[in-house]
Amino acid sequence: MNVIDAIMSRRSIRAFKPEPPTEDELMKILAAANQSPSWADTQPWEVFAAGGAALARIRERFLANYENGVPLGNDVPRPCEWPPGPKQRMLNFIEARCAALGVIPGDEAEREASMRRNLEFFGAPVVVYLCLHKDLTPWSYFDLGLFAQSLMLAGMEYSMGSVVAVNLVAYPDIIRQELEIPDEYTVMIGIALGYEDPEDNANQVRSIRRPVEDAVVIKGL
Ligand SMILES: Cc1cc2nc3c(=O)[nH]c(=O)nc-3n(C[C@H](O)[C@H](O)[C@H](O)COP(=O)(O)O)c2cc1C
Repeated sequence: MNVIDAIMSRRSIRAFKPEPPTEDELMKILAAANQSPSWADTQPWEVFAAGGAALARIRERFLANYENGVPLGNDVPRPCEWPPGPKQRMLNFIEARCAALGVIPGDEAEREASMRRNLEFFGAPVVVYLCLHKDLTPWSYFDLGLFAQSLMLAGMEYSMGSVVAVNLVAYPDIIRQELEIPDEYTVMIGIALGYEDPEDNANQVRSIRRPVEDAVVIKGL
């Protein structure tokens, strides 16, 4: 697949078929992501992947926490406030999502159902968790972002869809325990990976990007 085609056609997949990729396919995707650039070649990513029984246990414990009212508690706190531009785009996205799903924005039952889908990892057969040593700075978060996008694009070469999601790591201690992740690692983000279920309305959601001209200033060309 041509690089521009891959970048332009990638979108978040939020409903997956149950079939997992093979370990060999997953390793090829991770090997491609491992080529991502990083500050002074520090390659700070620590990567843990779960499928099968391991992922089923994590999913079960996530849902039990949610049903018992345990607050979501990411290792890296979620922002409380957003500047006007990003905030408006977030609202636009929620509206587009609700339109695709045929639900009313702000509806409490719908919000619950959506969070549940997140905490079921959208039915993905594999979740890849991206972690970092706790002593690293936000510059290494940047490196991890590059790794994440490389992983998702590489997945497309194997016909796999993905979504990178903060909710996949909403209960990081469960992930640490189940995957034996050392305490000194921050569980930063998860990427759900697998084959898209094209029948599911969750996969009809389209982000409307702002015109690139609004985000970019070029002088001198
Ligand atoms: C840091 C980060 C956290 C995200 N967390 C979630 C999440 O918890 N749940 C979710 O459904 N999507 C999540 N997303 C996906 C975004 O909603 C999505 O990338 C955005 O709406 C643009 O849509 P697209 O990926 O289809 O282009 C996250 C994306 C990023 C980069």
